[in-house]
Amino acid sequence: MFPSSWQSRERNNKNPANGKESAKSFSGGVMTSLGGGDLDGRNLYSRDCEGPFVEKIVHLNQVLDPSRTGREAETLETNLRKHIVGQEEAVQQIVNIYQMHLTGMNPPGRPIGNFLFLGPTGTGKTRIVEATAESMLNNPRAVIKIDCAEFQHSHEIAKLIGSPPGYLGHRETHPLLSQETINQFHTEKVKISFVLFDEIEKASDSLWNLLLGILDKATLTLGDNRKVDFSKAMIFMTSNLGASEMSSLLAPRLGFGLSSSKTIQQGEALDEKITAKINRSGLEAARKKFTPEFMNRLDKIVVFKPLAEGDIRRILDIELRMIQNRIFQSLGERSFVFTVTEASKNFLLQEGVDLKYGARHLKRALERLIVQPMSNLMATEQVIAGDWLRIDHEEDQKQLIFLKEAEGMSINAMAHITDQSIVHLANAISASAGAFEAVRVPAARTTRRG
Ligand SMILES: Nc1ncnc2c1ncn2[C@@H]1O[C@H](COP(=O)(O)OP(=O)(O)O)[C@@H](O)[C@H]1O
Ligand SMILES: [Mg+2]
Repeated sequence: MFPSSWQSRERNNKNPANGKESAKSFSGGVMTSLGGGDLDGRNLYSRDCEGPFVEKIVHLNQVLDPSRTGREAETLETNLRKHIVGQEEAVQQIVNIYQMHLTGMNPPGRPIGNFLFLGPTGTGKTRIVEATAESMLNNPRAVIKIDCAEFQHSHEIAKLIGSPPGYLGHRETHPLLSQETINQFHTEKVKISFVLFDEIEKASDSLWNLLLGILDKATLTLGDNRKVDFSKAMIFMTSNLGASEMSSLLAPRLGFGLSSSKTIQQGEALDEKITAKINRSGLEAARKKFTPEFMNRLDKIVVFKPLAEGDIRRILDIELRMIQNRIFQSLGERSFVFTVTEASKNFLLQEGVDLKYGARHLKRALERLIVQPMSNLMATEQVIAGDWLRIDHEEDQKQLIFLKEAEGMSINAMAHITDQSIVHLANAISASAGAFEAVRVPAARTTRRG
């Protein structure tokens, strides 16, 4: 018998080509044939089904769109694009694997996905894993990170899997890869673990063997023979293998010295030829280093691209937004707001970007040049709730200038001079604190950050 839901759907089955009821009718809940032949010139045929059913199939020849994703996968994609600049392929692959997981279409008995991320340092390999966890579990720290360089010797492997019963210290060791730790960040709704093996080229042979078992059978055997199930895990592995070859390919173009004419200009993408070369050199380096049995267990290998100047500028905006978020989140209704001029952004980029480390130093520069001076201003009450702080820079200066632009502003008014994505956070704060009278901000100053 057909399930009742299908029957009711069939009842509304209009032929999309002509809008008429298709050649099916119901008689006392049982589907019967209307007779064979041709309906409006369409080719029909009858197929006897088991039981009392005789079904007619209308050939629609309707073209479908397999590139569209469901709502949850779409949300993940949108969130990843908010946090990750460029690296389109990595975003796409994570979304694809997640979509397959949601529809139950990935191969059974294996992890949800096995990803290998290659490419230069500081280009977002780790960040994209955190951003995925943040989107799905609301927690960027919900990633179980294993730094392979730390597990070179067999006694260090015991930290991961525990030692066998009877061994010294058996009782004290809590294996880093036990089922409880793997599942620790699961929420009521989402039961997915994110496991990141960093710098796998540094893994010892014994770690490789563990890894191969996880990638292939989604199983790890602990020191005391208990099994850990990784079938609800996304496994990410990173390696900057081949990064130096990639940099030399880009040598005449790559660079973050912002005054240099060699930099990849804002908005200019790497051309296709160079992108293909980078991909090839990354894959070749991986094939040389890793065994075929490892490579065959990977679902996706993505080579991360070096960041162009425009990319780093966008990352700076993201990081500045995160600092403002931090202020709203930790100070609530006692928040203040800050904006950063173009001159100070250029200074921050000069200070925080290094040819070799991608965007890695940017955060540190922001902590040193913005967050730390700002907390001094807060501690000495030079900046208080409702203030608008403008951050500027003068040529040849080694520091930024902090100016009070306005005071006594409401949360809502503050939200409007910062990034739109912060507005909802500000609204939540002002709703919980009761209605504020929005303070008028002079029109000329109501520019967005920058
Ligand atoms: N593509 C990117 N999009 C957004 N932020 C990035 C990107 N690449 C690097 N970053 C920034 O640089 C920092 C270091 O990047 P990370 O992902 O740790 O580099 P790696 O590729 O070496 O793992 C991140 O925390 C993030 O702030
Ligand atoms: Mg990393």
